[in-house]
Parts: sequence; C-alpha cells; structure tokens
Amino acid sequence: HGYFTFDPGFLATGSCESKITFIDGENGVLLHRGYPIGQLATEADYLEVCYMLLHGEAPNAEEYKEFRKTITKHTMVHQGIHNFFNGFRRDAHPMSMLCAVVGALSSFYHDDLDIHDPKQRLRSAYRLVAKMPTIAAMAYKFSNGQPFVYPRNELSYSENFLNMMFSVPAEDYEVNPVIAKAMDRIFTLHADHEQNASTSTVRLAGSSGANPYACIAAGVASLWGPAHGGANEACLRMLKEIGSVENIPKYIEKAKDKSDPFRLMGFGHRVYKNFDPRATVMRDTCHEVLKELNIEDPLLDVAMELERIALEDDYFVEKKLYPNVDFYSGIILKAIGIPTNMFTVIFALSRTVGWVSHWNEMMGEDNQKIGRPRQLYTGYTQREFKPIKR
Ligand code: CMC
Repeated sequence: HGYFTFDPGFLATGSCESKITFIDGENGVLLHRGYPIGQLATEADYLEVCYMLLHGEAPNAEEYKEFRKTITKHTMVHQGIHNFFNGFRRDAHPMSMLCAVVGALSSFYHDDLDIHDPKQRLRSAYRLVAKMPTIAAMAYKFSNGQPFVYPRNELSYSENFLNMMFSVPAEDYEVNPVIAKAMDRIFTLHADHEQNASTSTVRLAGSSGANPYACIAAGVASLWGPAHGGANEACLRMLKEIGSVENIPKYIEKAKDKSDPFRLMGFGHRVYKNFDPRATVMRDTCHEVLKELNIEDPLLDVAMELERIALEDDYFVEKKLYPNVDFYSGIILKAIGIPTNMFTVIFALSRTVGWVSHWNEMMGEDNQKIGRPRQLYTGYTQREFKPIKR
C-alpha cells in the first residue's frame, strides 16, 4: 500500500502551506501576515488583526471603516438561535453550549452557501467573527439566568462583548477603557497560531467540503481540552488549588514526578521552546488591569512566584518549559469579572478568525485535497468469525 511516515502527535508533519502566521519557536517569534504579535497587540486593534488575517494585508482607514461596518451588520443571531438555549441544563458548561450553537448556525446557512465562491466564503467568515461574541455572551447569560443582551453596534468589538456580558436590564454596564483595551488585547493575542490542534481540526473537517459553521464547531470541540484552550481555565483552578506561595515547592515537585499526572498548567508549548511572545504582552496587561482596578490578587502573587521558581528550576530549564499565553490571561479575565468556565469560550471567540482564515485559505487552493492521515495497524491479523450459537 505504499509508504508513509509514522508521526503520532504530528511532531514532524507539515500538513499544508500557509501564508497566514509564522512561528519561530526557538526564538519566541510570532508574526501574523509578517507583523510581529507584540506590535499588533499594542498598536492595532482586534478588528484590524481580523482584517489582515482574512485579507492578507493590514487595512487602510477606509477599508477598516468598511470592515467594521460589515462586522457590526452581522452581530445579531437569528431569533431561532435563542430557542436552542432552552434545551440546555442551567449548569451546562458554556463551551458545550458554544459548540452546539455554533454548529447550529450551519442549519441557518447551508443550502444557499457556495463554499467555492470566495465572496461567499468571506461572508461566512464575517458572520462568524461578528456572531461569536453574541453567542458567547448568551451562553454566559443563560448560565446565570439573566436575559440576553442584544449587540450594540456603536460600541467597539470588545466594548460590545463586555456590554453583552455585564449589562442587566435595570443598569447599563459602564465600560472601563482599560478593561476594554485588555479584552481587545486578549482577543488579539489568541487570534491565530498556525496549525495547532483546533485549527488543524477545522482544516481537516473543512477538507471534505463540509459546512464552515459545522467546521468551526469542530474547532471549538478541539480547543476545549486542557492541553489546548482549556489550559486557561485549568491554570486558574491550579493557582487556586496551590492557594499560597508556601505551597508552590510541593506543586513543582508534583509536576516533576513522572508517576503523577499533574502538570503545571500554563507552562510548556509544542512549538515555543523559549518565552511565548504572547505571554510577555499578557503579563504587562495583567499588571495594568490589576493596577487600574486596584486589585490585590493573592493568586497573582502565587503566579509570579511560580513563574520565578519554575524559570530557575533545572527540570523546567532543561525541558524549555516557559509560561505560555494562558498563564496570565486567566488572572486578567478573573479581575474583569469573567467566571472561570468562560475562559475557554473567550479563547474560542478570539480564535474563530484564525480558524476561518485557515479554512478560507484552504478552500481557495487550486488542488485542495481531503485530509486523510494513515495509521499503523496493531490489531489482529485476519481470523475466522464464529457466529454465536442461538
Ligand atoms: N509541567 C510539567 N512537565 C511538563 C509540562 C508541564 N506543564 N509540559 C511538558 N512537560 C514535560 C513532559 O512531561 C515531557 O517530559 P518527558 O520528556 O520527561 O516525558 C516533556 O516536558 C515534553 O512534554 P510533551 O507533553 O511531550 O510536549 P508536547 O509538545 O506534546 O506538549 C503541551 C505541549 C502544551 C501539551 C504541554 O507542555 C502541556 O501539557 N502543558 C500544560 C498545558 C498548557 O498550558 N497548555 C496550553 C498550551 S498554549 C495555548 C494553546 O496553544 O492552546
């Protein structure tokens, strides 16, 4: 049957060509369309980054205005989507709701969708980028029993999200610009990361010509795990469990013990064998937000000390395990008032543009192939089946 490379976990397999994102893990470099992430996170806003991921170039003022208008036009979800929420348990994890409701979008946009038409592909991308914050905030509102808040198009992307999360009928949420900026930065820092598990999932699902909304739901599912996007939630739970600085050495030892499955959440990365450049910006933002909100968070003390000790510890140094993007994002989100189970939802919301940019790039290829890995069979050789005597 021919030869293939056996590469479990795809440590050495390039699955596609892409012009979207470049990572040099040895040197801690991350570029979107050639622009360094540090610069994008501090000098661009999330919608600019969305535009460049989708279109290949940074927008000029006119293009930005037009793009913003288009996105705000698509922020509402069909009223029928509201009904989906009634089927969930009140205590359902918001990622389960997100996964299901994003998948359900495919039932609204399917029959008249031609995925081979670049314009229609872009329209699907705009819809997804626009509707994700609405659906994410609905999942939150459903869990705490408050009415859904409709999008407000005069607000920026991040302000609108915060407003849909935190406004209650009697009282409009007053958006703090420092918080809105931090939120925007969290979105930007999660926007894309080339062929990670969820993006590869979206590409693989999409490679068969499947509905893009259903493919994004597959991405949400893949992101949920604690080794991937679920790490931000797991990291905050871990910091709470550690509780105080004195307990850190015990947990460092647990992380090093091979017979113990415990890992330091928010540490290590498949590609970065150096500081995650996203973590550097996230760390600064974390301090800015806590200062602005005047929060003394003991978890931050635990995080800082954990970082210090781990960066000096031989085990972590030798294995090149540095704090990753999820190490600080949880502390910021907690300070903003976002509950822990929403952290991965926010990651999914931010990453949607990356997923859909990759899907669009793949669908635009001349010789696009279905993804179909091979396997090394380790089961029985052929044997005779003996029917049960009835
Ligand atoms: N704590 C303790 N030991 C670790 C950790 C950790 N966080 N991460 C890796 N190691 C060890 C691991 O035990 C292994 O040791 P050995 O070679 O002795 O068996 C070695 O380092 C290499 O680890 P690996 O699991 O083979 O590496 P990988 O590339 O398959 O996994 C990872 C990368 C991110 C899944 C892993 O580092 C991890 O589980 N980290 C914690 C979860 C986390 O923070 N994930 C978020 C990643 S960034 C956001 C995103 O992209 O979603």
